[in-house]
Amino acid sequence: RRILLLNGPNLNMLGKREPKHYGHISLNDIEQRMQELATHYNVKLTCFQANSEDKLIDKIHQSFQQIDFILLNPAAYTHTSVALRDAMLAVSIPFVEIHLSNIHKRESFRHHSYFSDIAEGVICGLGAKGYEFAFQFALNYLEE
Ligand code: DQA
Repeated sequence: RRILLLNGPNLNMLGKREPKHYGHISLNDIEQRMQELATHYNVKLTCFQANSEDKLIDKIHQSFQQIDFILLNPAAYTHTSVALRDAMLAVSIPFVEIHLSNIHKRESFRHHSYFSDIAEGVICGLGAKGYEFAFQFALNYLEE
């Protein structure tokens, strides 16, 4: 079982960035916690974050037939990127869409996502824990 944790733009600033929306935990903390889970469940977890669309798209392409499930927080690209959506469709890897904040409680431009209708499910507003819940879901999904 191979899982990719993929985070989009500005998420490298977690912990420093708008803590009211995103909390105080850093991306490094999240990735470490996820690696602990992965070790515990004997899963190969790859973590990747990028601030540009092309790097994210390349990572998705490289995952073709190499990764069984993606935990994806597309960050601002959630609301803008047809290219990233198309990349997810191209590789056809099941994924959960994750947002730390409740995007529906925020500005209306965050209410639409280019990913929700092609995701297995969406988690938003549960903070960093959302990544752990998504990981648990992925385990169940891959067992079926
Ligand atoms: C986010 C929500 C997006 O609207 C925003 O652009 C982000 C982070 C979240 O995790 O809550 O960068 O995806």
